Amino acid sequence: GLDVSKLLRTTGDVTYDIGFMNTAGTKSAITFIDGDEGILRYRGYPIEQLAQHSSFVEVTYLLIYGELPTADELEAFDNRLRRHTLLHEDLKGFFAGFPRDAHPMPVLSSAVSALSTFYQDSLNPFDKQQVELSTFRLLAKMPVIAAYAHKKSIGQPMLYPDNSLNSVENFLRMCFGLPTEHYELDPLVVKALDTLLILHADHEQNCSTSTVRLVGSSNANLFASVSAGINALFGPLHGGANEAVLNMLRKIKAEGIKPEDFMEKVKNKEDGVKLMGFGHRVYKNYDPRAKIVKGIADELLEKLGIDDELLDIAKRLEEKALADDYFVERKLYPNVDFYTGVIYKAMGFPEKMFTVLFALGRLPGWIAQWREMIEDPATKIGRPRQLYTGSPERNYPLD
Ligand code: ACO
Repeated sequence: GLDVSKLLRTTGDVTYDIGFMNTAGTKSAITFIDGDEGILRYRGYPIEQLAQHSSFVEVTYLLIYGELPTADELEAFDNRLRRHTLLHEDLKGFFAGFPRDAHPMPVLSSAVSALSTFYQDSLNPFDKQQVELSTFRLLAKMPVIAAYAHKKSIGQPMLYPDNSLNSVENFLRMCFGLPTEHYELDPLVVKALDTLLILHADHEQNCSTSTVRLVGSSNANLFASVSAGINALFGPLHGGANEAVLNMLRKIKAEGIKPEDFMEKVKNKEDGVKLMGFGHRVYKNYDPRAKIVKGIADELLEKLGIDDELLDIAKRLEEKALADDYFVERKLYPNVDFYTGVIYKAMGFPEKMFTVLFALGRLPGWIAQWREMIEDPATKIGRPRQLYTGSPERNYPLD
């Protein structure tokens, strides 16, 4: 009855640890998580305080440089970011090459990968100025690429960035504005999106961040490493969960399934159905980000005057889960993405863009972690071992 897949064991000098559940592949001074207590801090600052008082651009600075900026430092940082938003015109040609119904995540990862071809003067991972330049290029251009991926998918013209706006405002304008009319930003929506991006900005060695570090450990450049991270984030067990949650809620609504009947399906593991947006590898308590997101969902929908049945369904599912032995025993709570989809939908984003929004949020974390890895003299190329289970030596048949 021994389940080897759940066993941590050491054979010779190799540790067998599926999913790296007990393996720390690195030291890091960026993010602290206590999964049992539901604590998350960036550079020592509690996530609740940053969500309430900081801004996404300030958190970006904090994650990358380790300290909060002074007012002057923040202004200089933001100004420099605004100067790097334009994409090389040839890069725009990329968007024409993808099918109209392409998912924006692979479009995003492809275009970010292509930055290595356009900006060859900032690819050396050991040249501090080049790393700084590629950091600004990536932070400034990725929201533009993301907005273009969206515009491409809905067949609308792409807008040039307006550098009188910060990156969150600019992104909203480029997603929802039209060249023929003035786009009026809603400060409520700007604030809500800014806060959601803060909540996604780093989460220590999750799947996509570990990917960025692993790829970067071969001394691959920042664009190449982040592009790999975007692809890791695409999966429904990671960043793709926010899109999967909304699809699940829509299905429950469309088919008139009672939340309790859906929960029975989940518990019986029928067709591999999971309660998407629930559970986390590290949090065995309420995800502190999910609490904040739930508050934003309530506030934003109320202020925008939107009554969305999907939010009610989500709340009923959460209520049922928190009182159910299956979820209690397994310590399954809502994670950051249980309520984000409802908010993104209220903002006007199609489901396919949800994971792209996660990627924009996680970008500062990927960059901070890649830089920490490159600067650490103790870094070695990531190269896990295996337990070989194949055939013993045998001879090639000669007739
Ligand atoms: N719904 C139903 N059951 C679940 C769920 C869920 N969402 N999550 C875990 N379980 C069950 C598993 O079936 C397993 O049960 P068992 O012991 O009877 O076999 C037990 O809880 C432990 O789950 P594992 O899959 O072993 O936990 P792991 O740490 O490997 O997975 C993960 C974590 C991938 C997040 C998982 O909880 C999951 O698939 N959740 C749904 C997808 C999701 O929301 N992902 C977003 C993660 S957060 C992020 O990336 C922002």
